[in-house]
Amino acid sequence: MNSTEQTAGSIVIVDDNPTNLRVLSAMLEQAGYKVRPALSGELALRSVAASPPDLILLDIRMPVMDGYETCRRLKADEATRAIPVIFISALSEIEDKLTAFQAGGIDYVTKPFQTEEVLARVRTHLQLHHMQLHLETLVDERTRELSQSEQRYHRMLEQTIQAIAMTVEKRDPYTAGHQLRVSQLADAIAEKLGMDKYAREGLRLGATIHDIGKIYLPAEILNRPGRLGDIEMALVRTHPEVGREIIAKVDFPWPVAEMIHQHHERLDGSGYPLGLQGEAIIPEARILAVADVVEAMASHRPYRPALGIEKALEEIRRGAGSVYQPEIAAACLALFEQDGYQLPAAPTD
Ligand SMILES: [Fe+2]
Repeated sequence: MNSTEQTAGSIVIVDDNPTNLRVLSAMLEQAGYKVRPALSGELALRSVAASPPDLILLDIRMPVMDGYETCRRLKADEATRAIPVIFISALSEIEDKLTAFQAGGIDYVTKPFQTEEVLARVRTHLQLHHMQLHLETLVDERTRELSQSEQRYHRMLEQTIQAIAMTVEKRDPYTAGHQLRVSQLADAIAEKLGMDKYAREGLRLGATIHDIGKIYLPAEILNRPGRLGDIEMALVRTHPEVGREIIAKVDFPWPVAEMIHQHHERLDGSGYPLGLQGEAIIPEARILAVADVVEAMASHRPYRPALGIEKALEEIRRGAGSVYQPEIAAACLALFEQDGYQLPAAPTD
């Protein structure tokens, strides 16, 4: 916007007739506008390009470049497109008016001028133009604010999920960081399989809290060295269902509760708690299963030392096609064997 506080707005007036130009200029200057006259379409385009005004008054009948062509060029240029153009002409035939609007004009005044009419139209269109610019600025600001607050909520969600993950890991120091490492590996596998970014976001989130149901287990079971008895094992095996119950009421845009519920299911139905088979297990849970096994076997547990990544990959190779989906197993193996993927170091190792 080029109006200053001292003027009501800046206007370029285009007319090949110097007398008309003088009359109009005087009329508008007296009303407080800052006026720049131009005697041809070419001169007007140059003047507008050098310093865009708030409004243009444009004569139709001019030699070389008429008003329509001048207006079309103004509307074709991104920098001058938004400047309102009011056509002025002695002609009042309907065709002229239509062509004027089609060329991009916003209004039309006829010669001889009636001062009040010209001023009223100029004032109205300047106000509309200013309001439009103001609205555009407001929309831009609101859009920026919305995207900032969306990012803030997004960060808060991630931090909250990590805090929830920590509540279970605080009671179970041997698996500290397990969920986060599983989440990173699951994400790498999903990326290799071509899963889209949005679905991967949900997978990372679900993986970060996949063992949340272990909060229900007594700490002495979680930390006990040596093998667990049948009753204790049965208790441990409730954690996918408990996890599902904890998360079920949260309205995630991803199937997080199912991921948690199904992460111990196996392709051939040998898993738990439901013994689901094949595609009855959601893809995220099938990926999570592979990442979970690899991370768990590669890391230290209270009842055994770390078996190492080689043993973990061997298990995936052995189970590919039976307990693990072959494509997922292959992607995981390729990550470690071809891409040099490494599990982040576990703090307890
Ligand atoms: Fe688990």
